[in-house]
Amino acid sequence: MKLLLLSFIAIHLIGCLEAEHTVSEYGQKSQSSQTSSTVDFDELHKLVQKEREAVMSFDYTPARLSKALRSASLLLVKRLPTPEEEAEAITGLSGYEAVVSSYLESEDFKAVMLEYFQNDFNMAGFVDAVNYNEPANLITYLIVNNEDYRQSITANFCVNDDFEKVECSTFKGNLKAAQEEAAGVLTTQAFLKKWESAFNFIRVREAFARFACRSGQAYPDEQDVGHPVEDISDRVKTFNDRKEGCFNCHKSMNARASLFYRFDRNGFYNLNPSQDPDDGEITVTDTGEVSTIRDLLNDGVEPLYHGKPLKSVRDYAVRFSKKSHFRDCIAQRFTNFALGRSYDEPLPKDLIYLNERVDAHDFKIKPLLLDILKSKRFVMSL
Ligand code: HEC
Repeated sequence: MKLLLLSFIAIHLIGCLEAEHTVSEYGQKSQSSQTSSTVDFDELHKLVQKEREAVMSFDYTPARLSKALRSASLLLVKRLPTPEEEAEAITGLSGYEAVVSSYLESEDFKAVMLEYFQNDFNMAGFVDAVNYNEPANLITYLIVNNEDYRQSITANFCVNDDFEKVECSTFKGNLKAAQEEAAGVLTTQAFLKKWESAFNFIRVREAFARFACRSGQAYPDEQDVGHPVEDISDRVKTFNDRKEGCFNCHKSMNARASLFYRFDRNGFYNLNPSQDPDDGEITVTDTGEVSTIRDLLNDGVEPLYHGKPLKSVRDYAVRFSKKSHFRDCIAQRFTNFALGRSYDEPLPKDLIYLNERVDAHDFKIKPLLLDILKSKRFVMSL
């Protein structure tokens, strides 16, 4: 009898929820029906809760779509929706998607992306005749033209302030070098110059931080075993010290840093830099002495990534772009952008499926953004 009553209540409650499916004030009503029922059976409550969540996850009511559209328009085009846009969006999910898609095609969205990446890279404008917009220009170009985002670290071109493809100043017209060594943002003159530092470690750190979402703690790279301890040099510093933990990070960082020795401190591809540290070209140690790759890796040791030799920054970037932490960082980054969260925050559990969506969309960002903006989390502003 008790059981019968229980299932009756359960069916009744679920029935209520389903009936309210089309009612826009769903949230409020279901709450009152829950409190009025005063059922003290935990099982029943859980059942109803589960069902409620299932129903809600597909419940794009006009009120929710209207609210979501407001958030999406403020985010993507920095204005409120027009009455026409609003009218279209509340007709249902496909109407909402159509309006959001139109935002993604607009000049305003382009400006929003540009600003977002200028802030993210902390680079904009001209500094000493170097165009610090280039990292943000390149990525914005890829996004608005619906191109593969992996090119953010593999492209062999730069993008100027008019959003035209140009040769990168880094290579000073050496097209062959650009072809073989360019690695998108990582070899823009701006990135190289801004992050030049002792042994090139900061270039390595920033590459990993920005493209594997590791801003707080950029190393170690858990996905790479790095070098055996006998490969890592202790000629200048105890990079191979295991007791102090130096080896833990420097076993993979040193290999990557060695690749950046081909780019001088002004951000140029330069195989013959002036040997005088005061000229500001050649890579230096933390005490300002001339540094060579031997400071990082012992004689005759080839730099390794996942156990295989690395030829260049480009080689590293191409292989890095195929790793899950690069892919997952894309889902994380654009989700945090959409939800107004900080760059570091991990992807919420209910959005983990977005990692796979990055693959499904061939690393194109606009369709990924659309997925994010129609997720239950965004629509419900959770
Ligand atoms: C958690 C990872 C990690 C550990 C452990 C670590 N390093 Fe580093 N190291 C870095 C990173 C990342 C940089 C780049 C600069 C930065 O982020 O501070 C760096 C930079 C350096 C530099 C250049 C400093 C400069 O002036 O730019 C030296 C020298 C260095 N590390 C030596 C060591 C030694 C010696 C140890 C052990 C006592 C050690 N590191 C332990 C990650 C690490």
